[in-house]
Amino acid sequence: MSNESIRAAAADLFPGGVNSPVRSFRSVGGNPVAIARGEGPYTFDADGARYIDYIAAFGPLILGHAHPAIVAAIQQAATTGTAFGALTPGEVELGRRVVEATGMERVRFVNSGTEATMTAIRLARAATGRDIIVKFDGCYHGHADGLLVKAGSGVATLGLSDSAGVPEAIAGLTAVLPYNDPVALEAWFAAHPSDTAAVIVESVAANMGLVPPTPAFLEALQRVPKAHGALLVADEVITGFRIRYGLSNLLPGADLACLGKIIGGGLPVGALGGRAEIMSLLAPSGPVYQAGTLSGNPLVMAAGVAMLDALADGEAHRRAEALARRLADGLAAAIALAEIPASVVRLGSMLTVFFRASAPADYAEARESNTAAFGAFHRSMLEQGIMLPPSQFETWFVSSSHGEADIDATIAAARIALAGTRGVL
Ligand SMILES: Cc1ncc(COP(=O)(O)O)c(C=O)c1O
Repeated sequence: MSNESIRAAAADLFPGGVNSPVRSFRSVGGNPVAIARGEGPYTFDADGARYIDYIAAFGPLILGHAHPAIVAAIQQAATTGTAFGALTPGEVELGRRVVEATGMERVRFVNSGTEATMTAIRLARAATGRDIIVKFDGCYHGHADGLLVKAGSGVATLGLSDSAGVPEAIAGLTAVLPYNDPVALEAWFAAHPSDTAAVIVESVAANMGLVPPTPAFLEALQRVPKAHGALLVADEVITGFRIRYGLSNLLPGADLACLGKIIGGGLPVGALGGRAEIMSLLAPSGPVYQAGTLSGNPLVMAAGVAMLDALADGEAHRRAEALARRLADGLAAAIALAEIPASVVRLGSMLTVFFRASAPADYAEARESNTAAFGAFHRSMLEQGIMLPPSQFETWFVSSSHGEADIDATIAAARIALAGTRGVL
């Protein structure tokens, strides 16, 4: 099947032709590419074209595609049964590694990041006996009803949902504050000192493009909710095991942390964890219900163990970060040369090119980016064999499998693509 025939068939099968919205390429124009296979830093589409890939499955593939140790672990696990609905040794293997690496006393494996954050919220509400959740504008925590709220510009307003189908009564329990704004956080708790169950935050915002937290924001996050009896939930679905082996360490005061992506080695996974006292509120040791037919699935656990073992010595992180630095430096130089109002933001092996003269501090600033210019840039990069995430507001992921030649080829392509954006700037 060709790209075209797969796209046509998918359009008749799936809403919008995809099984997750960003894959439709709608925000960059152009057609989605059907990926037939991946190998290291490359993907190959159904027509046989090769791409240097920076989507990397939106985060899990820090070692690149089809890493031999992960493939072997999945194959081996599959030969001994794919699911049992019972406790398995693989859960203990991965659980032990996660607990040791993160300092969390107890962990629960689930099937997605969405389940992890949804469960963390339920747990926080049960632990505090309160209903209100605070999140930050532009942070994405999966698609549970109460978290699909970012509520526009008002500071400290109770939310309106971004999605149809979310009852006002649920959206209204979520307050939305600007990211990187410690004053807004203080003001929220001054006005509502005893209603808030939890503050949930991406330790590094990576769903408005990459927007690192300021030290003042991190400090306030760890101090203010606690002072008012609310829990802090660190969403490390992207950052966990991406910045370093374990949690990012940006929010060591968090009561609960959510994981996903990397810890499943590219298979469907999520996890939440924290102190035993809070985690033991989960069923069956406590009254907060949560369950999953395929939670702790043996294939996923095997892939996760192989992934964490490959990451444990820190070498893959060092390599991916050095490559990302080379890429960010090269892109910044290309932007300067082209005299285009754009900026490169990098942290570890993650980066975003914003079509905005300076790096944004929050979602309101990120939204000032020229998305038409990003679309033109994306289409040109794709034509040149570089697969970027298809949105201005996604993060690029560099893996340890990229080579320096791949990075340099990406920078060379970017010089051409940047020149091509002049018409839309
Ligand atoms: C920070 C963050 N939290 C939660 C999620 C939801 O994870 P999943 O897509 O596995 O449900 C995502 C997904 O991209 C994410 O980036």
